[in-house]
Amino acid sequence: MAGIVLVGAQWGDEGKGKITDLIADDFDYVVRFQGGNNAGHTVMHAGKTLKLHLIPSGVMYPHITPVIGNGCVIDPKVLLEEMDRLEADEISTHRLLISCNAHLIMPYHRDLDGASERRLGSQEIGTTRRGIGPAYMDKASRLGLRVQDLVDEHIFRKKVEAALHEKNDILEKVYGLPTYTVDQIADEYLAYAERIKPHIAETSALINRALDADQWVLFEGAQGALLDLDHGTYPFVTSSSPTAGGACTGVGVGPKRIDRVLGIAKAYITRVGSGPFPTELSDEVGRSLIEVGAEYGTTTGRERRAGWFDGLIARFAVQINGLTDLVITKLDVLSHLDRIKVCVAYEYEGSRYNDLPAHQTVFHHARPIYEELPGWKTDITHCRTFEELPKAAQDYITFLEDLAEVPVAMIAVGPSREQTIMRRWPSRP
Ligand code: GDP
Ligand code: IMO
Ligand code: MG
Repeated sequence: MAGIVLVGAQWGDEGKGKITDLIADDFDYVVRFQGGNNAGHTVMHAGKTLKLHLIPSGVMYPHITPVIGNGCVIDPKVLLEEMDRLEADEISTHRLLISCNAHLIMPYHRDLDGASERRLGSQEIGTTRRGIGPAYMDKASRLGLRVQDLVDEHIFRKKVEAALHEKNDILEKVYGLPTYTVDQIADEYLAYAERIKPHIAETSALINRALDADQWVLFEGAQGALLDLDHGTYPFVTSSSPTAGGACTGVGVGPKRIDRVLGIAKAYITRVGSGPFPTELSDEVGRSLIEVGAEYGTTTGRERRAGWFDGLIARFAVQINGLTDLVITKLDVLSHLDRIKVCVAYEYEGSRYNDLPAHQTVFHHARPIYEELPGWKTDITHCRTFEELPKAAQDYITFLEDLAEVPVAMIAVGPSREQTIMRRWPSRP
């Protein structure tokens, strides 16, 4: 086993950062394959809480090479700020490698993200306004700038000029916003380039060679299955592929390189931003999940919406990712509840749906059908084996496992790395 993908199985913020940090020791490389600084991964490391947005969660380990793959979009200003913050915390970033083919988030991408959200008004997606969508739009329309363009001033300026030809018109005529000059952008970005250049590499060849040599590579996903551009609750999604297939295109490896796919899911579910959410709770139970689970966004600080675990979403995530294992996080957050509900089906206009419906209207208006399980009403944050968990908590995990049709490999019972129950994680020999 050498290539392992770790992805979010819900709407993001499942605790991917914590689990990456937990297993990182076993790996030689941790590679981000999609998204940008819309991600916010919280890692508690050596008594410190680190919030990572762009840099892979393994950066703290001196034996790991962190890599930002070609499928990512990079805001160089944010990248350098994040590197500076890590260095200030005495975490070296000199090993960081950045794919020459990753795309750059430009200042006008951030402006257009905000402007298009404002224009949508009540229909807004609730993006992180970091320019992610507009950067991927330009990638697809072949108007994007790539990391490698930073190393050639002539090409950089030519490409910025071509992009501004269109962007300035849109900024000014569609949104009434200020425009940019080539010099303005070149001055800013070429200054960043000096610091970024030493990190630029052809990372797909590197990762393929590492896998050839039986080194261990962790492909670290951002966001989650239901935010996937193809499979998520479109248009309330992000603009990349956070599902396992995205690891192949976002790094440049073939599917046969992937030996195991870990899906991370909370013991309940949350989402930030707009869009349908069948099991959302707007009562005091939902409030308690937000308070006890500290459900406030790592990137934007926005309060997350919270609801009961949705078994249909879990099974869907298992299917579209080919999950081999599920990791359940934040089980401790349910410890105060008398009864816990799990969604096992939806009902819409008299029909029952055991799997996600084909039409999103049904998903929007679906009434969740719940099974109720007893709570355990006791602190579980000290439990380190499955057997130490109260019987009701064990039964809850077994119930989720049966519903998702995949084994639960790990259970997190608190934010720190020790607060984890390992059930089937083969450490590196
Ligand atoms: P990510 O984006 O998937 O990496 O998740 P975030 O870091 O945005 O959000 C997860 C939050 O839950 C972080 O603040 C973690 O420190 C915290 N967390 C992770 N696992 C657990 C857990 O098992 N219990 C509790 N109480 N908090 C956890
Ligand atoms: P991590 O990696 C939760 C959501 C935004 C919005 C939608 C589109 O921390 O799990 P975007 O800025 O990507 O165009 O916004 O996606 N979103 C996330 N929600 N966790 C994330 O990342 C997210 N990244 C984007 O809130 O609804
Ligand atoms: Mg997050």
